[in-house]
Amino acid sequence: MKNIIDEQALVQRAMQARSRAYAPYSNYTVGAAVLSEDGTIFDGCNIENATYPATVCAERVAIFKAVSEGRRQLQAIALVTENGGSPCGICRQVMREFAPELVVLIADSTGDYRRTTLAELLPDSFGPEDLLDA
Ligand code: THU
Repeated sequence: MKNIIDEQALVQRAMQARSRAYAPYSNYTVGAAVLSEDGTIFDGCNIENATYPATVCAERVAIFKAVSEGRRQLQAIALVTENGGSPCGICRQVMREFAPELVVLIADSTGDYRRTTLAELLPDSFGPEDLLDA
């Protein structure tokens, strides 16, 4: 069952999560909030590491929290950065795994946001069906 997406509320949750970012190396703090189809919102922040590649993006933290709590049907994600930056390629691929029709809200630190979709951000994508059909 799809929810009516309260976009402002989702962006607000992402803003709150951003305040918990651990980003001492880049100082680029990111917050994310993902709406699952039962209406539950899971949030996340980026968590950096002294071994840089061990860093995890905010979007993946939020999505993995949802999945690890049993929610694989994801409807929308909001992310907030200082400058309204777009989600990285690895996060787009993780979104693709669980939510090819995901709505993506990309916000800056004032809360202004633009709405796009994963299909726009990751066209002609590779996904689970490609393996399962093989
Ligand atoms: N980052 C995210 O959390 N999400 C993205 O989509 C882009 C990048 C984080 C990773 C790292 O902690 C910092 O932003 C700079 O790359």
